[in-house]
Amino acid sequence: MTVLFADVVHSMDIAAAVGAERLREIMAEVLDRSAAVVKRYGGTLDKFTGDGIMAVFGAPVALEDHAVRACMVALEIQAETAMLAAEVRNRDGIELHLRVGLNSGQVIAGEIGSTTASYTAVGEQVGMAQRMESVAPPGGVMLSASTARLVDGAAALGEPETVRIKGANEPITAYRLLGIGDRHRATARAESNLVGRRWEMSAVEGLLDRAVDGHGAVVGVVGHPGIGKSRLVREVSAMAGSRGVQVFTAFCESHTSQVPFHAVARLLRAAFGVEGLDGQTARDRVRDRVPDADPEDLALFDDLLGIGDPDVELPKIDPDARRRRLTALVNAASLARESPAVFVVEDAHWIDEVSESMLADFLTVIPQTPSLMLVSYRPEYEGALARVHGAQTIALAPLSDSETVALITGLLGSDSSVSGLADTIADRAAGNPFFAEEIVRDLAERGVLQGQTGAYVSTADVSQAKVPATLQATIGARIDRLDPKAKRTLSAAAVIGSRFSLELLETLGIGPVLEDLVAAQLVDQVRFTRAPEFVFHHPLIRTVAYESQLKSDRAELHRRFADAIQEHDPESLEENAALIAEHLEAAGDGHAAYGWHMRAATWATNRDITAARLSWERAQKIADALPAEDPDRAAMRIAPRTMLCGIAWRVHVNVAGDRFEELRQLCTAVGDKASLAIAMAGLVIDHAYQDRVREASRLASEAFALAEAVGEATLTVGLSMPLLYAMAESGEWDDVLRWSQRTIDLADGDPSKGNFIVGSPLAIAFATRAFARHFLGRRGWRDDLRHGLAMARSTDPMSYATVVCYVYWPGIPLGVLGSDDSAMREIEDALRIAERSADDLALAFARVTLGFALVHRDTTAERGRGQQLLAEVGQVCLCQGHNLCDLPNIEVYSARGRAMQGDRDDAITVMRAAADHLFREGRLLLHGLSATGVLVETLLDRGAEGDVAEAEAAITRLADAPTDNGLAMRDIWLLRLRALLAQARGDAAAYTHFRDRYRAMAKSLGFEGHIAWVEAMP
Ligand SMILES: Nc1ncnc2c1ncn2[C@@H]1O[C@H](COP(=O)(O)OP(=O)(O)OP(=O)(O)O)[C@@H](O)[C@H]1O
Ligand SMILES: [Mg+2]
Repeated sequence: MTVLFADVVHSMDIAAAVGAERLREIMAEVLDRSAAVVKRYGGTLDKFTGDGIMAVFGAPVALEDHAVRACMVALEIQAETAMLAAEVRNRDGIELHLRVGLNSGQVIAGEIGSTTASYTAVGEQVGMAQRMESVAPPGGVMLSASTARLVDGAAALGEPETVRIKGANEPITAYRLLGIGDRHRATARAESNLVGRRWEMSAVEGLLDRAVDGHGAVVGVVGHPGIGKSRLVREVSAMAGSRGVQVFTAFCESHTSQVPFHAVARLLRAAFGVEGLDGQTARDRVRDRVPDADPEDLALFDDLLGIGDPDVELPKIDPDARRRRLTALVNAASLARESPAVFVVEDAHWIDEVSESMLADFLTVIPQTPSLMLVSYRPEYEGALARVHGAQTIALAPLSDSETVALITGLLGSDSSVSGLADTIADRAAGNPFFAEEIVRDLAERGVLQGQTGAYVSTADVSQAKVPATLQATIGARIDRLDPKAKRTLSAAAVIGSRFSLELLETLGIGPVLEDLVAAQLVDQVRFTRAPEFVFHHPLIRTVAYESQLKSDRAELHRRFADAIQEHDPESLEENAALIAEHLEAAGDGHAAYGWHMRAATWATNRDITAARLSWERAQKIADALPAEDPDRAAMRIAPRTMLCGIAWRVHVNVAGDRFEELRQLCTAVGDKASLAIAMAGLVIDHAYQDRVREASRLASEAFALAEAVGEATLTVGLSMPLLYAMAESGEWDDVLRWSQRTIDLADGDPSKGNFIVGSPLAIAFATRAFARHFLGRRGWRDDLRHGLAMARSTDPMSYATVVCYVYWPGIPLGVLGSDDSAMREIEDALRIAERSADDLALAFARVTLGFALVHRDTTAERGRGQQLLAEVGQVCLCQGHNLCDLPNIEVYSARGRAMQGDRDDAITVMRAAADHLFREGRLLLHGLSATGVLVETLLDRGAEGDVAEAEAAITRLADAPTDNGLAMRDIWLLRLRALLAQARGDAAAYTHFRDRYRAMAKSLGFEGHIAWVEAMP
């Protein structure tokens, strides 16, 4: 039993302030309210202790979860008192607070009654509760260690506190009760005895043992509906619980399978023990758990958990960076975890895509932690959580005939009148335990069976009993039998979800009736407070209840529920947008659903690009299905397509494709040039990152022209970065110069004009013009670089990081800039910023930049690090399918490192392939320059048969690449390479000639890299 003790703080002072009479009034009110709460939870109010309250749970009625109930009561009494305190403050100007203490212990049954006489028998337990009360903070609840042990897992507790108590010599441990979790599901669920599954249980037990020893595992539990997955999971949870291992569970649900972050947020909320806590308490608790985490990371984490502080602004970073940082935080917390735990993801076949991929990232560290992760799903699920590397899978087969009969006999009992029935039911149930249970319930409801579970008798001829053909039909028949009000309640609940509150049902305006549903075990009550909550007894019941109702009724319920969500939680509209859209779509209100999908996408853009993509795709689908005469149809079809093409490059999958051509037609039809230009810009990068540079640059020119035709400077400036990038990649230097100039003119000195893709398009335009200028041998490139860097630095960190990459990534390998210490510092800075803020693509870019710079350094250690870095990035780009246009050069410089260590043959093969590829793609005039240069140097260095000839051919090929105008950058490289060729041939005169011209040109252009290289030539 658990004893609750509550007392008013400073009651004497209150009496002095307001008089004894008024104090009595206030106390009576406190008592009344508390008594009501105690009663609701089945506790017994034991003795009024003057100005306090004592209640007992677990006696005289045996309540298994007495400690949990007592905790709920304690919290609710505090909530009631807080409300009363507000009234008292207004009226009497005094502060009213209660302290509450709880303690649990053994008592001998029958010893406690509601009379004062017998309570002294448990004096010791009561005494401890009273002491807990005395050390509780005003408004707080303290638990003794014994109570804390009983509610561990269900309640959120503070860190253990050592308290000194009057009359006791030794200090003792107490725990502050912070809240009570969502996990405390149906405690009174009547379960049939477990039959079979011995092998499965012992397999999981073995894995649990290993996990407790620090070698965690991921276990998939797969099987058809009703076969016993959840049951197995419950058995494992109980086993874990009895060993003191904490269990954290998240349920996925069919109606939230499209709601991003749903499952992952639930699991994390459970794991961090913040379920049911108010915002500030929840945030404090998270900080207790990960004390050393970066404050910005914590803000991101709060946001993910849905406990964000509205006053704290989230860092403005890319969703990729957010994802990296959250993964790092969660995985660090998992790795730091010392006490063993079981994490459960139930019904993963309904998991939302974003949660799925986040969880997959979190799972990677499980083997190094003392945790077991159980994932249950039906066989149709083939997603990432079903394919976890190194995971064990337990496939649940149907129960054997004898097991099924044993299960049914357990349900029916052993009366001779029902003995013939077990085989009939077993036959039909075909090893599915849930089917067997439902048939028995069905027969009982029909009166074929009488009595109760485990002790049925039958007066009918059971051999004639008709048994429904399928599990769904059985459930359907049971639902049909409900009275209309109960049935309507069940239908409405099915629309809400697997867990629902009375309050929500009421807002749907259906006059809910739940008693019958609970009695029929269609739903179970899980919260017994003034705001009672229920869950469907089984997901299949919800499915049948959902599907068996009239479509029009269901649509109406969905619409009402969508309204209810908005009214219920007006602060979280953006967060709930996806859910609202879902319900409106089910309600058949396409227009409204479209709007919410678009809102959901906008909210997700900064959180997860896949989530945004999914919402835009849903919106597009709705728009496409609108009737042709709808006046908004064209605009609605254009908007999501524009965004989808615009972000195509960020999601690393082909989302543009045919969609772009559709969009082009739609935009052309209504003359929407701006949307088309935006979509094109996205597609340009997508093409480039998929190594289709020719298409990218063709489209880039078109997009620039379109944006110009719209005539809005902001648009042209905003789109300039991707377009200039594509032009540069294909070496169209005249165009790059012209358009970067145009961008600079249009931006008109405003660093943040058109900042919808990058923070400062103008800063990047300066860096790009520098690029064009040094390629074309024009003056002013150095000023452009300086200008671009300074402007970016004062705009925002990410702009700065981007410009640093724009400066050094080509600058160093092309020999324009040296890789001196200050350059290294800038690049390392940029990389750090990118790691914290950038998308994966920009991060790759920063790492490449650093890699290129490092391989040009003097020490072997640095070169080795650079080579390693390039090899890693190359691998990432290849696996994730991005930045592919830069891959050839990444490979060339990585190979160059290997060649310097002596492995020239293999390196030359790689370099040759890269240079050939760039030649074929018409890209000799950017990456092809340095690729050819490195290839030639390495060939000449090796000097094997045919190498000199091959080097010469490569040089000629470079010299022949067509350009409109002369290219200083190519000229200087040709001088260098020709000097090296002459040297290899032993032609001293030619060598001196080329070297001297090379030196002169390097000096006149001011190319630091080349100046250093020529100085190193003999
Ligand atoms: N081995 C078993 N012995 C006794 N009862 C069982 C056994 N396996 C399952 N049951 C009972 O059968 C019912 C259905 O099982 P459960 O809910 O675990 O199915 P499930 O596989 O999780 O289905 P779903 O895919 O729909 O979630 C439950 O009431 C459960 O207690
Ligand atoms: Mg289940």
